[in-house]
Amino acid sequence: MAKLTVHDLNVRGKRVFVRVDFNVPTEEKDGQMIVTDSTRIKETLPTLELLIEKGARSILASHLGRPKGKREPSLSLRPVAAKLADLICRPVAFVDDCLGEKVEKTIGLLQPGDVLLLENLRFYAGEEANDAAFSEQLAHLADLYVNDAFGAAHRAHASTEGMARAIARRGGPCAAGLLMERELRFLGDELEKPARPFVVILGGAKVSDKISVIDRLLEKADSILIGGAMAYTFRLAQGHKVGKSLVEPDKTDVAKAALSKAGARGVKFLLPSDDVLATPADTGKLNKKGKPEIEMQNPRVNSSLSLPEDGAGVDVGPATIKAYSEVIRTAQTILWNGPMGIFEDKRFAEGTFAIARAVAEATKQSGAKSIIGGGDSVKALNAAGLGEQVTFMSTGGGASLEFLEGKPLPGVAALSNRS
Ligand code: 3PG
Repeated sequence: MAKLTVHDLNVRGKRVFVRVDFNVPTEEKDGQMIVTDSTRIKETLPTLELLIEKGARSILASHLGRPKGKREPSLSLRPVAAKLADLICRPVAFVDDCLGEKVEKTIGLLQPGDVLLLENLRFYAGEEANDAAFSEQLAHLADLYVNDAFGAAHRAHASTEGMARAIARRGGPCAAGLLMERELRFLGDELEKPARPFVVILGGAKVSDKISVIDRLLEKADSILIGGAMAYTFRLAQGHKVGKSLVEPDKTDVAKAALSKAGARGVKFLLPSDDVLATPADTGKLNKKGKPEIEMQNPRVNSSLSLPEDGAGVDVGPATIKAYSEVIRTAQTILWNGPMGIFEDKRFAEGTFAIARAVAEATKQSGAKSIIGGGDSVKALNAAGLGEQVTFMSTGGGASLEFLEGKPLPGVAALSNRS
């Protein structure tokens, strides 16, 4: 990799600021916030264990949620410190701030191998604003900088960008952590020259979220398999009826352009040939967000490319599962981003879970490299109990999409180059 990594640093006794992405799901239980999924914490353990073993004084910092510059007790990182301490089987100090006297005093007391977690960086507006003074204040806390927060690397914030630049200006090295290094290798280097056939599976709700990714992957993939609600924008572009499906009528031009680029480049571009439909019915109630609660009734398979007026597509159908699984079986490299349907509802999970099984099987049986591009596809794979059976699952949602689009990530750009 062209960037310094934590392996290149001499960290013994040094104050090492480690930007992690501990933006993990939490919920209240018996009056206390608890972490409900610690995947992102676990994924940083190789970096943290290396720093502990090498005798660094580690100062960890992260955001949690979007408190918009205000102190929001439910978004405190304190429960994350407790979780981390359990995972590394050693104490993790916690200060309820990320700047100031208390923080400096605690850092001054750290011994080589000790670990400190600071409070949510986004309690200060300067974090998201990438404020220069705030960045300098953070930089002042440390000798060296390590960024292991791939999930936040698409954000040019003070802790991901500004402070790295400030540390670099005074000659301090800024390095990628081991998780960051792995993410860049699998989503970057491995897909640059993929073993072929290279099969891309794209799902999710909107074509507009994935336009740039589709465009870029059309240059590299042998096959692209489309699922999720975004398939209906393609169907509409082909002149079919989409009933009550989620669709972006203003994006049919984009869909047509993708189809013709696929044709011109000889990329196999597959759309679902059948679906699972349901009829949306207003329950008259409001959901937690204050929006009308819609119930999906009367699930059924639809084998025609046009949908009935009252039907919304909620999953891919059995013929599509079969066709997609056959293509996946031949792959040597697989990239999957986005579910095939509303997998959170058991009745509409089969398409997504069947694709997950096909990806896991191709990994095991033909040695395909399977790379899961973060967000909902990771949730789906874990829900299918297959998270351990793929080559790599990204911890980034927005970051992995932007990286796959080929956009430079500010959190990576700010790291020191290898000389
Ligand atoms: C994520 O969960 O995708 C990252 O932690 C970034 O969070 P953000 O979208 O609030 O910046």
